[in-house]
Amino acid sequence: MIAPECAPAAKTGGLGDVVFGLSRELEIRGNTVEIILPKYTTMRYDDIWGLEPVHHDLWVPWHGGAARCTVWVGFVHGRKCFFIEPHVADNFFGRDRLYGYADDIERFAFFSKAALEYLLQSGKRPDILHCHDWHTGLVPVLLCEQYRSALPDQRVCYTIHNFRHQGVTCSKVLSATGLGRPEHFLHADRLGDDTYSGSANLLKGGVVYSNFVTTVSPSHASEVQWGGADFGLARALGTHQGKFGGVLNGVDYDVWNPEVDRLIPARYSAGDIERKYENKRALRNRFWLQDKWGPIVAYVGRLDEQKGMHLVHHALFYTLAHGGQFVLLGDGFHGDKISSHFWHLKHYLNDNPDCHLEIGYQEELAHLVYAGADLVVVPSMFEPCGLAPLTAMRYGTVPVVRAAGGMIDTVFDRDYSPRPPWERNGYVFHQADNMGVESALHRALGLWYHHPAEFRHLMTSSMRSDYSWARPGQDYLNIYDYIRHK
Ligand code: ADP
Ligand code: GLC
Repeated sequence: MIAPECAPAAKTGGLGDVVFGLSRELEIRGNTVEIILPKYTTMRYDDIWGLEPVHHDLWVPWHGGAARCTVWVGFVHGRKCFFIEPHVADNFFGRDRLYGYADDIERFAFFSKAALEYLLQSGKRPDILHCHDWHTGLVPVLLCEQYRSALPDQRVCYTIHNFRHQGVTCSKVLSATGLGRPEHFLHADRLGDDTYSGSANLLKGGVVYSNFVTTVSPSHASEVQWGGADFGLARALGTHQGKFGGVLNGVDYDVWNPEVDRLIPARYSAGDIERKYENKRALRNRFWLQDKWGPIVAYVGRLDEQKGMHLVHHALFYTLAHGGQFVLLGDGFHGDKISSHFWHLKHYLNDNPDCHLEIGYQEELAHLVYAGADLVVVPSMFEPCGLAPLTAMRYGTVPVVRAAGGMIDTVFDRDYSPRPPWERNGYVFHQADNMGVESALHRALGLWYHHPAEFRHLMTSSMRSDYSWARPGQDYLNIYDYIRHK
């Protein structure tokens, strides 16, 4: 795996969970998996065991010269990870966040080059390189254009978690990695961006040069090919449709499982759901909410336009107006519009005993929120997979979601789904507006207040939905086998 994140050491969202969970599943099935990551200063070092340098002088060709890196090895909850630490004046990964800098594209272009250089120099020859998102889009390009003679048998599977971020840049970044000849690489059949002519698109490079490309759910695979959710990539996906498909993510049920979770005060299962209420009490305590008879609705996720934050705002006030309580655990970019809006809201609602907004990234706290809430709301504008609702379901917390991407494949409306009743596990709405979110939240709160036994039944149905890594793990192994023998 070559990736920008691996949970829980380096995680800003679901990509980190996927890299960890999929690697673990592949290892359980007898494969050897190693993960190459940047060595960020801001990682959670307490989640990395036995960290030590393994390669002091990895010289990486860069801007016509060479940059020295140290490569470290360590175990992130059992996964063997290699961390690349460049010693360059720009201090690529010694920043106070993982992303959000003007030179992000250069940082990850360097990382991609360094990852391949490390394989070359260390003699590692994995059968498969599995790369993730725009950050590693240059890996298959560089492999094919520069490293083929040294690494002739390596095949690349490329997973796109988010089409909105594509790494669009000028040809200077390409030439820094040794990809000169802009007229060749900026051609529309290679890395040339289809919207901004003259620019290089790293995500597109990943699509063109990989042996197989996936996104993280079948429905999202359709949306990006035919549904207009492609952010300008539909043409490239059309050309390469024979090697493109959707594989639904799994959830790591060793990490996210109320039966064994040591980060929540009371453990419980579908057969023993009473004990979930101890977690509800603990959640209220933790967030200074009053104890009362009423549902808790939660939002856990990035404070990002993608997530339909205006609808989260509406859901919050709708819940409060209907006697419920609302908790939010979310992180955004400091100073941006959405983040500032929720900071204001937090101050405005500071004394409200039925509401708490926790702004920041807190992995441990997420466990308590999933375990303590009755409902989670996920009104995303687009959602390639959506691990938050899948995780919530494992904790018997009923999802109220917009029919987008992976949530179409995983959440089935209690009232309207054509699925058999025992497979229905939540509430779904379609319209991306206040009326839409109300239509579903109204039904969910109604069931909670007026048909508690039925609500409890829905909770156990969502707990019993199986979204483990077992099936997707096998799907990826099939893809690896296919591209190895093609
Ligand atoms: P995305 O990858 O688009 O952010 P997902 O729902 O697929 O969305 O994955 C988000 C992951 O990050 C989930 O595991 C969720 O629990 C976690 N998460 C998001 N925001 C926070 C936060 N502020 N604190 C703790 N965990 C968070
Ligand atoms: C992305 C998507 C999310 C998905 C996650 C993991 O960040 O926004 O829907 O679940 O990656 O694949």
